[in-house]
Amino acid sequence: MMDYKKVMLLLVSAAGVAQAAPPTPGQLLYQKNCQRCHGKDGRLGLNGAHDLTKSNLNAFGRTYLVTSGMGKMPAFGKVLTPAQVQQVVAYSLTLK
Ligand code: HEC
Repeated sequence: MMDYKKVMLLLVSAAGVAQAAPPTPGQLLYQKNCQRCHGKDGRLGLNGAHDLTKSNLNAFGRTYLVTSGMGKMPAFGKVLTPAQVQQVVAYSLTLK
């Protein structure tokens, strides 16, 4: 016979399984550093930002741009490590 606490525990863990996959490091970096201009889905275009879903830049070009900045886009070379730039660029490439 299961007691109340065990039933609750089962319900809670079942709900946990049903949840979406946790955000990747790149997604978290994007939310923290890029979303305010580019928006959650890359389309916001605030402060003259370009629509990332329409960008033709590949990973190499994006890495350069994010590291060095361009126009009103700030440089992240001092804020993010090269590995973090790589992660956030990889995430930005998933926005389509
Ligand atoms: C302060 C606003 C702002 C923030 C924050 C910002 N961007 Fe941008 N982004 C811009 C602007 C403005 C441009 C257009 C630059 C230009 O061409 O002069 C741009 C352009 C880009 C482009 C090129 C799109 C294309 O093909 O034209 C990419 C890729 C990009 N940003 C990625 C990122 C990523 C990744 C981050 C976070 C690490 C980020 N941006 C954070 C404003 C921002």
